[in-house]
Amino acid sequence: MRKRSVDTDSFELKVIDVVEETPDARSITVEVPEGAEEQFAYRPGQFLTVAVPSDRTGVAARCYSLSSSPVGDGPLTITVKRTAEGYASNWLCDNVRVGDTLRVLAPSGIFTPASLDADLLLFAAGSGITPVMSIIRAALAGGTGRITVLYANRDERSVIFAAELRRLAAEHPDRLRVVHWLESVQGLPTQEQVRAFAADHLEDDAFVCGPAPFMAMTVAALKELGFPRARRHQEKFISLGGNPFGDLHDVEVAEQEIESAEADPEDAAAAPVPGAEAAAPAAAVRLEVELDDETHAFDDWAPGTTMLDHLEAKGVKAPFSCREGECSACAVRLLEGEVSMRHNDVLDAEDLADGIRLACQAEPVTDVVRASYS
Ligand code: FES
Repeated sequence: MRKRSVDTDSFELKVIDVVEETPDARSITVEVPEGAEEQFAYRPGQFLTVAVPSDRTGVAARCYSLSSSPVGDGPLTITVKRTAEGYASNWLCDNVRVGDTLRVLAPSGIFTPASLDADLLLFAAGSGITPVMSIIRAALAGGTGRITVLYANRDERSVIFAAELRRLAAEHPDRLRVVHWLESVQGLPTQEQVRAFAADHLEDDAFVCGPAPFMAMTVAALKELGFPRARRHQEKFISLGGNPFGDLHDVEVAEQEIESAEADPEDAAAAPVPGAEAAAPAAAVRLEVELDDETHAFDDWAPGTTMLDHLEAKGVKAPFSCREGECSACAVRLLEGEVSMRHNDVLDAEDLADGIRLACQAEPVTDVVRASYS
């Protein structure tokens, strides 16, 4: 058990609807408080970090993907599936009622299409459908591309959003194709079968979300087909060992709990950290960061301070969730220069080679660093 204390910008959101999607999954819709609309302007595929009360540990911080679409003015909805031993998911499914409030952080995450007009190839397994559903809804409402979905589940009873997907496919027959894969009927999908499914979509933007073995197998199939890294996205978060809600006093951190889709930690553990051996610069560093169509530039980033801490000290509302290198909510792409990372449990070697870094862990090692949050 660890303890930590940080300042956060959390929000109390009123629950305005709870829907039972399947015997194991609930969609929880919340109302954004007046004045916080800007902080809750999200992109399809992003998630909320939720503070779940715990008698044993104070607060359990968990990430849940938004299943709603940011296109239009609809409310925010997360969809939570019970996991067998998961304290937080079961607590939310058992206890949250209309009129309650949930304490959350603003939306985060990089599992989001660069363009809603792109042709999309989406792979989901189990509750991995949640961010994929957000992408489908947003792309149909605000984009023009074709969307092809392979959605794997244990059996028919466990298919979340079955009726909604049927309705959307009937409404958009030229744009949306959903193929269901039931383990009870077809067995687990194999790499060869996924490769055959994807072979007609070599130019699409691919997104993969589900349990770690499903994601690893699907990504391997996409790699075999030559999908470049830039068009191969997999969800990387969800298991938080830290607690970002410790602003009032130290809170004991909950034990790590896998709520749903989780990246293979061995990928990250095996990845060498660029800049790890480099000496810190002797003087303050110039930092330029692109965030939400704005560029923030500072000439006094002190070596030994993380990029996230420096941006926050300058009043920049940069995204974050765990602050411990475990979720990727703070991920940036380097455009120039290099940083070292104190800790990385989530980015793999390919992410690092693509210049992705964790702002909450990044310290400067060059005199100039330019990075982008998009
Ligand atoms: Fe979670 Fe940085 S905030 S990795």
